[in-house]
Amino acid sequence: MQRTLSIIKPDAVARNLLGAICVRFEQAGLAIVAARMMHLTREQAEGFYAIHRERPFFKDLVEFMRSGPILVLILEGDEAVRKNREIMGATNPAEALAGTIRHDYAETIDANAVHGSDAPETAQQEIEFFFEQDEIFSRN
Ligand code: PPS
Repeated sequence: MQRTLSIIKPDAVARNLLGAICVRFEQAGLAIVAARMMHLTREQAEGFYAIHRERPFFKDLVEFMRSGPILVLILEGDEAVRKNREIMGATNPAEALAGTIRHDYAETIDANAVHGSDAPETAQQEIEFFFEQDEIFSRN
């Protein structure tokens, strides 16, 4: 059993896609064990994406992520990190496979509907960034 962090980004929240996206996690066998809707401050967005600080798109990414409310989730299940990345599809929606969230719902490489942790170690750090232990409701 593994956990991963998922963020439904401002573009998908604005387009009322919360239900459509959450159902895909659940249908893939991933349980939503924590959830928080929030509007990130610049400091929070910069902190969460600190690893990308030197990348040319950092400022755009931070501005986009603080442009509206997001839904932050912890997904739990077998191979949750890999499974979530598979369901999400490629970062660039133009390259995402048919049937993935980004193929079906994302618009651009900035407004790409969802974030998912890229490895179990990152997942642990990202989960701790947003949640306290007593906010996580494991199914196990
Ligand atoms: S990497 O090298 O795999 O870590 O990078 P990648 O996963 O492709 O991208 C990391 C996050 O940056 C976002 N991104 C961008 N935002 C704005 N503009 C451009 N051009 C751009 N390219 C990548 C991308 O959506 C990733 O966000 P998260 O939330 O991590 O999925």
